[in-house]
Amino acid sequence: MVHYKDLGLVNTREMFKKAIDGGYAIPAYNFNNMEQLQAIITACIDTQSPVILQVSRGARNYANQTLLRYMAEGALRIVNDSGKPVPVALHLDHGDSYELCVSCIESGFSSVMIDGSSLPYEENTALTRKVTDYAHKHDVTVEGELGILAGIEEEVSSEVSHYTDPDDVEDFVKRTNVDSLAISIGTSHGAYKFKPGEKIPPLEFDILKEIENRITGFPIVLHGSSSVLQEYVGMINQYGGKMEGAVGVPEDQLREAAKSAVCKINIDSRSEEH
Ligand code: 13P
Ligand code: ZN
Repeated sequence: MVHYKDLGLVNTREMFKKAIDGGYAIPAYNFNNMEQLQAIITACIDTQSPVILQVSRGARNYANQTLLRYMAEGALRIVNDSGKPVPVALHLDHGDSYELCVSCIESGFSSVMIDGSSLPYEENTALTRKVTDYAHKHDVTVEGELGILAGIEEEVSSEVSHYTDPDDVEDFVKRTNVDSLAISIGTSHGAYKFKPGEKIPPLEFDILKEIENRITGFPIVLHGSSSVLQEYVGMINQYGGKMEGAVGVPEDQLREAAKSAVCKINIDSRSEEH
């Protein structure tokens, strides 16, 4: 077993507390290859932003889990040698089983997501609790999820979203002992969230407010939140990429959400297409 603290990584607990107190959110970037990781750490050192490096199941299959783990360790070395270090967490994104979470924790991850959101409520609760019981023994933080996002995230896909029911959140957080909760309030996975030229509907801020009333100050995570900046979509298409019509969540809405207990914003969209 390699413990993340021996690698110099941090879990998300302190990061989230500071982010909530400061009214900002931490970027959680998925990475699949060296170029993406280079860009992520360069930007985070330049802007002095704490960062969560995320590895998905798909990335583990594509790039090899051992290679990704050592790439993250290399990235951390560069951050620490920069003279302007920032906190770095290594997180499993959309973990779908207890065994996968354990395997990541044993190889040095500081945080894991167990995504039981497609399971019936009681099964999601039981699976998430099983993961937190193991993770917390190693001081690893755990993200759970309630509600279903529209869009495609590797094997997880849904045509429509099912918003998180505020009536469930308090019970879920209490019984699972999770450290953060991913919710569904209108964001969606993938780079094609809206049609170009279409009026973008606002996120469900009323649901967010109701959730916050039930679990005040508890760390909230937004998935499917790439802003897919149009200047970069243009640049990608100009140089041979194929992202015609890609539209993300407007940045002003993400900034608005980050003023609340939303303290982690997930950005992947869709790295393999970049
Ligand atoms: P996007 O699909 O908006 O990039 O969101 C990424 C994500 O939620 C990863 O878990
Ligand atoms: Zn996601």
